[in-house]
Amino acid sequence: MIYMDYNATAPVHPEVLEAILPFYREQFGNPSSIHWAGRMVKGAVEKAREEVAGLVGCAPSEMIFTSCGSESDNMAIKGVAAANRSKGNHIITTSVEHPAVLNSCHYLEHEGYRITRLPVDRDGLVDPQELKSAIGDQTILVSAMFANNETGVLFPVREIGAICRERGVYFHCDAVQAVGKVPVDCRGMDIGLLSLSGHKIGAPKGIGALVVRKGIKLHPLLHGGAQERNRRAGTENVAGIVALGKACQIAREEMSSEAARVQQLRDRLEEGIMAIFPQASLNGHRENRLPTTANISFTGLEADSLLLNLDLQGIAVSSGSACSSGTLKASPVLAAMGVDPASAKGSVRFSLGRTNTEEEVNYLLGVLPEILQRLQQK
Ligand SMILES: Cc1ncc(COP(=O)(O)O)c(C=O)c1O
Repeated sequence: MIYMDYNATAPVHPEVLEAILPFYREQFGNPSSIHWAGRMVKGAVEKAREEVAGLVGCAPSEMIFTSCGSESDNMAIKGVAAANRSKGNHIITTSVEHPAVLNSCHYLEHEGYRITRLPVDRDGLVDPQELKSAIGDQTILVSAMFANNETGVLFPVREIGAICRERGVYFHCDAVQAVGKVPVDCRGMDIGLLSLSGHKIGAPKGIGALVVRKGIKLHPLLHGGAQERNRRAGTENVAGIVALGKACQIAREEMSSEAARVQQLRDRLEEGIMAIFPQASLNGHRENRLPTTANISFTGLEADSLLLNLDLQGIAVSSGSACSSGTLKASPVLAAMGVDPASAKGSVRFSLGRTNTEEEVNYLLGVLPEILQRLQQK
């Protein structure tokens, strides 16, 4: 079985699993309890907070643990909107964000907020100058992602951060696909709020985090107890938090060597595909891209057929297109980039990670010609 769908989720890292098992056995306490059982786990939660904060360049006190990246996005956008309503009602985002951002903005639109969705160019990049011009005196928030989940394209986050700082507007960055894969630095990049998710980097599903830098006004989504400094009620997912801390520690130690290793595999895969199927084309900027991701259009073919045929060979990849009422609908991200519908419908995302090897890439390239030949004859 070959897994090349790391942007969907990653397998739990064996060291992470080892690290969390005690928290399902003897270390079961509630971190809010002041007795020994509570104290035992409270320390572990705070150690994890330091690890995660260290990886993304913020203070531990600026880190709020959540249940997932989607919750972090919702909390950042709705929380800032609610707390800053008296300052303005305008939010700027981009047309290629994850649904957690797009649908949070859509919800706010119904609540009377004005949303600007910035376009992207053919490479999937947003123009910082266009963003600058869109900021007005009612603008309270810019929400722009770090790395796109479908194409891996990296936005000019540093420039966006500088513009937002200069104009006194909060900057939320959905870094769910970037954290642990490329350097992310909230302080150095002027990021005010940052979303991340554990299951993309070797922690289990059900743990995420939101950075909220000091001084940012934000209303909570969940009301209840005083957990997370009154910003997110609910007894902490202790094992999840410990897992996220461990995953971030591993990422800090291994990120640069892993990125280089995986990029080499990704590039080899890309070159191999282009040699086998010259009509194929890469979607997204060639350089400004995650080292792990290749979004390739097999023009003339239907991505889902290719995906199913690869699956029959034990290879898991994904397509951005979705089948809706019997017809294949092209990915909104590729549509926003101006990729023509025929190419978009043939687009497949290969996203690589820790477990992938050169042998796996070779195997994929070995089975691909026959699959493509079969599909072309249909
Ligand atoms: C860019 C981006 N943002 C947010 C999310 C949502 O994260 P989660 O699955 O933890 O809710 C994802 C997940 O695919 C993502 O890729």
